[in-house]
Amino acid sequence: MTDLRIAPSILSSDFANLADECSAVLNAGADWLHVDVMDGHYVPNLTIGLPVVKSLRRHFPDIFLDAHLMIDNPDEMAPRFAEAGADLVSFHPEPSRHPHRTVQKIRDAGAQAGLVLNPATPLNWIDYVAEDLDLVLLMSVNPGFGGQSFITSTLDKLRALNQRLDQLGTHCLVEVDGGVKPHNAGDIYDAGADVLVAGSAIFGTGDYASAIKDLRDAATSVTV
Ligand code: DX5
Ligand code: ZN
Repeated sequence: MTDLRIAPSILSSDFANLADECSAVLNAGADWLHVDVMDGHYVPNLTIGLPVVKSLRRHFPDIFLDAHLMIDNPDEMAPRFAEAGADLVSFHPEPSRHPHRTVQKIRDAGAQAGLVLNPATPLNWIDYVAEDLDLVLLMSVNPGFGGQSFITSTLDKLRALNQRLDQLGTHCLVEVDGGVKPHNAGDIYDAGADVLVAGSAIFGTGDYASAIKDLRDAATSVTV
């Protein structure tokens, strides 16, 4: 298990005050910024795109930008998010025609590469690409919206994913996204997550520092 990273999802932030919201969570102890890119096709919601990533990179040169692409054409777009300044670009393999090639293209563009598995997506998608992945993101809700409830079967899947990564001899990070709250953060970290994404659990409160501390404390206070 590596050090826990907390990645606030800016999907739940006030978009009209995005720079202030990002500064606020970073000052409050966020490790990464999670950027949810939705195209209105792969998921029934439309959010932000390349110009926002470029602008965040310009305003916050030192932060770790974690781009989660929920889009129909990741093969074409994923490298462009890397070029726009994302440190990590993760995509869903189902809409990709060539997931392995897209992983290489992201890395060639200078970013880390992640593969995202939906709640019903089997783990074996990672088998022949795992050695080139920097991260596997397990969705603990169906993608498209913030504020949904954590799907508890994710915990078994998370344990199975970590076993599989061990068997494959790879050591990429594991991220969990959706419905992460203080009441389940301990179980999620205990089951092998390195990165916890949280949108409503942070931006839905009035005190980002307390919210991040609550998540971190809840995660790391549980022992096996
Ligand atoms: C869902 C997004 C998540 C979402 C998490 O499609 O990928 O990152 O913003 O929001 P919460 O933490 O509110 O479930
Ligand atoms: Zn996300």
